[in-house]
Amino acid sequence: MVGEAIRGRFPVLASKVYVNSCSQGALSDAVRAGYEEYLDGWDANGAEWMFWVERAEAIRGRFGELLGVAPDEVALQTSVSAAVSAFVSGLDFRGERNRIVISENEFPAIGQIAHAQELRGAEVVQVAPEPEAYAAAVDERTALVCSTFVSYRTGRVHDVEAIRAVAHEAGALMLVDAYQGVGALPLDAAAVGDVVVGGTVKYLLASAGLAFMYVNPAVRDRVPTQTGWFADENIFEMQIERYRPHPSARRWDAGTPPVPNIYGGLAGIGLILEAGVGKIAAHVAGLAERLIAGCAELGAQVVVPDGRGPLVCIRSTDAPALVAALGQDDVVASDRDSNLRVSLHLYNTDEDVDAVLAALARRRALLA
Ligand SMILES: Cc1ncc(COP(=O)(O)O)c(C=O)c1O
Repeated sequence: MVGEAIRGRFPVLASKVYVNSCSQGALSDAVRAGYEEYLDGWDANGAEWMFWVERAEAIRGRFGELLGVAPDEVALQTSVSAAVSAFVSGLDFRGERNRIVISENEFPAIGQIAHAQELRGAEVVQVAPEPEAYAAAVDERTALVCSTFVSYRTGRVHDVEAIRAVAHEAGALMLVDAYQGVGALPLDAAAVGDVVVGGTVKYLLASAGLAFMYVNPAVRDRVPTQTGWFADENIFEMQIERYRPHPSARRWDAGTPPVPNIYGGLAGIGLILEAGVGKIAAHVAGLAERLIAGCAELGAQVVVPDGRGPLVCIRSTDAPALVAALGQDDVVASDRDSNLRVSLHLYNTDEDVDAVLAALARRRALLA
């Protein structure tokens, strides 16, 4: 179900034109019920420890479905930052292969963690987001290539498959930050990266505090030093004799799983998988096309006019003022750099797009 058929599940849509899923997905009845189920179980039974561990395995499986990979290729984390820090803690930057190549569109989580590795011997190179720019910078000195899937700043969908080919040609690892996009665009994790990270706050419709990390089994020998007891081969043994990382991607798990967020995450991802990511992507593409065509008629500049993702960025003379002005018209959007960000998802409709365009027409002075 997409569009009109699913809107009733999201109370905020009764009063707002919600085009802000790139910041946070709208709250559904299902996610609210997920949190209530967690609290009810706690009330009724006290610590439901074994059940909570089982829920963690359930969400691992759902992440796997979403990414087209096996559950034991997925690590559970609380944020992309924590996941990426854990992964890079297993890389050695002291030798000849010490470079990390990132694009200028990376989220700070990736850019800042890459620079933190300079303390461990790494050298960071920043390039334009095109595969050709990566190709010019990636060579036998490169340990890790990072690319965002969809830019949070421009809405551009990066050609991560081509960038991965560049990385592999040079013998480097490829990390994809799929946070912007996962749930709204199909993603075959194994085809785009050795490591693919993302979380539940945005198009996966749940809350902060839950993230995933796919790690290709071929690169599991990069053993992390940033770890936790849930990464052990057998957490129930409670052993303290040695570091014994799990043979699967669980070796990148951390401490006690974020149980409440897992309840919310299961509900949010459930809605996405039920609707079908392919169907959501087609729906979103139609809405984006309508919005981009409407912007052209208004004379508004779209940053990536041939965009094929869920995020459309529109240039503004004063983006925060434009966001505030749209807010007065009950349009919930956001801004980055000097752009208005309009983000489209399964629950948006042609009427939402038309309402955004009408609001923009009333605020022409704030369009660049
Ligand atoms: C592309 C991208 N990566 C990462 C994040 C968030 O990272 P973290 O889970 O570490 O807060 C965001 C959130 O806005 C994002 O847009």
